[in-house]
Amino acid sequence: MSREMSLYHSAAKQKLSHFSLGSSCRSVAISGLLLLLFYTFSFNYHNSQSPVASYLPFRLSWLSSSPDPCTDTPTNISHLVFGIVGSVKTWKQKRPYIESWWRPNVTRGYLFLDRAPSKELRDWPPSSPPFRVNKDITKWEVSRKIAAPVQVRIFRTILETFRQGDKDVRWYIMADDDTVLFLDNLVEVLLKYDHTKYYYIGSSSECVMSNFFLSFEMAFGGAGYALSYPLVEMLATELDACIERNPRLYSSDFMLHICLTDFGVSLTKERGFHQIDLHGDISGFLSAHPQSPILSLHHIDTIDPIFPSMNRSEAINQLMKPAQVDQSRLLQQTICYQRERNWSISVSWGYSTHIYENILSRNFLRRPLETFRPWMKRNKSPLYLFNTRILEDNPCTVPHVFFLKSMENASRNEIVTTYTRASKSGLPACALGGNHSANPISRVEVFSPRRRHIEVSVFI
Ligand SMILES: *[C@@H]1O[C@H](CO)[C@@H](O)[C@H](O)[C@H]1NC(C)=O
Ligand SMILES: *[C@@H]1O[C@H](CO)[C@@H](O)[C@H](O)[C@H]1NC(C)=O
Ligand SMILES: *[C@@H]1O[C@H](CO)[C@@H](O)[C@H](O)[C@H]1NC(C)=O
Ligand SMILES: *[C@@H]1O[C@H](CO)[C@@H](O)[C@H](O)[C@H]1NC(C)=O
Ligand SMILES: *[C@@H]1O[C@H](CO)[C@@H](O)[C@H](O)[C@H]1NC(C)=O
Ligand SMILES: *[C@@H]1O[C@H](CO)[C@@H](O)[C@H](O)[C@H]1NC(C)=O
Repeated sequence: MSREMSLYHSAAKQKLSHFSLGSSCRSVAISGLLLLLFYTFSFNYHNSQSPVASYLPFRLSWLSSSPDPCTDTPTNISHLVFGIVGSVKTWKQKRPYIESWWRPNVTRGYLFLDRAPSKELRDWPPSSPPFRVNKDITKWEVSRKIAAPVQVRIFRTILETFRQGDKDVRWYIMADDDTVLFLDNLVEVLLKYDHTKYYYIGSSSECVMSNFFLSFEMAFGGAGYALSYPLVEMLATELDACIERNPRLYSSDFMLHICLTDFGVSLTKERGFHQIDLHGDISGFLSAHPQSPILSLHHIDTIDPIFPSMNRSEAINQLMKPAQVDQSRLLQQTICYQRERNWSISVSWGYSTHIYENILSRNFLRRPLETFRPWMKRNKSPLYLFNTRILEDNPCTVPHVFFLKSMENASRNEIVTTYTRASKSGLPACALGGNHSANPISRVEVFSPRRRHIEVSVFI
């Protein structure tokens, strides 16, 4: 009973937490008004002294102490703490992926391992996050009831990251050792949210079935997700109790989702987190990214190298080159037409360009080409949470594909990204478009202003 009551309280807190979203002075004024109205209509029952209560007393309340948003400084990378889940066995293989995005002496956080690393690893590289070893829970009385100890270890990593006691934290970012994160974009996206409120920000799986088996309202942890400080602070008091109540769950992400649902906190979706529950060649997916900053890529080892001529770690580092120059533009799709030859051209900045020998609508080209396969083999349609285009043997709808080769300063204010051809098309020219073959084209150069694509506006 008392637990239920405390849950109601949390739900009410959560409701209020969204009233002052945006952290502008104006929104504070509005939230003040809502607060007043809400109070007028709120339940205000008093506890009954009678032994058998015939009604359910509860009182709605909200958090009152939040920093004044008018003096709050903008969030930057130093306000983020990362909790990365890894294991000793996989560390060597995953290390290049972590080091591709980790910034020594800039990013704060930890790589959590299942056990202490062996002697040869004791010389821990400064280019990687410092490691911690997850607490052994085998002596915990609940542990014999736990169905998936590894998943509980992953879930408890949130708690153990929090217990490191870092100061001035606004967001905890949780991810796996095979997740690549895009930090500049992450900071820019988190700037939109009020870190003093309860936020659980992440994304679903690409595959319908993964969401169906678990939840469409859950953040998939490999994609990475962000939890605001107050949320983790609250979660830390309840996390082990959540496990005790649900020892048979087999997914750490689902454990978190269940636990946060009890608090009344639901998922805020950001489309740039990518679980990549896909197999094979994901170039079709990365060439038609949603119009949203890319925040992560996961499952690097279960997909083909994202650049076909490279191995996996080289390919990730290749994508990090444009990411270092301008993440806001990275993988953002631009579509244009070359009317003299009836060509359609689609650019995924910093990654690929496609040339089609026909005029195709933007609506068509915004759909990813289904170059990839779903996570699970025997799935039925619909497979994905988004529309796709099937790869056909049709010269009018199959693109000539070019991948990022290099980037240079074109002038003081311009960057040129150069893309070279993956392979020659074996198909005849598209007759519908007037037989203008793009086979002679071996290179595409894309000029873009040096100025960042997204200008951040902070409401101060
Ligand atoms: C981040 O913001 C804090 C103020 O909250 C400031 O002291 C710090 O210098 C900033 N760090 C960076 C890297 O901009
Ligand atoms: C990080 O800081 C430490 C100590 O301040 C310094 O010795 C080290 O060289 C720095 N590492 C990098 C990669 O900047
Ligand atoms: C990938 O290529 C790089 C550079 O050629 C090399 O150092 C690295 O060992 C390769 N990785 C694998 C897993 O083969
Ligand atoms: C390109 O220009 C930027 C800004 O002017 C400079 O920081 C960078 O070093 C230049 N890169 C090259 C390869 O010249
Ligand atoms: C395009 O080529 C096909 C066969 O290669 C031919 O039948 C057709 O007439 C050509 N169309 C034009 C507009 O040249
Ligand atoms: C472009 O395609 C249209 C429609 O198929 C055709 O009428 C036109 O002649 C083509 N233009 C060129 C330059 O081939």
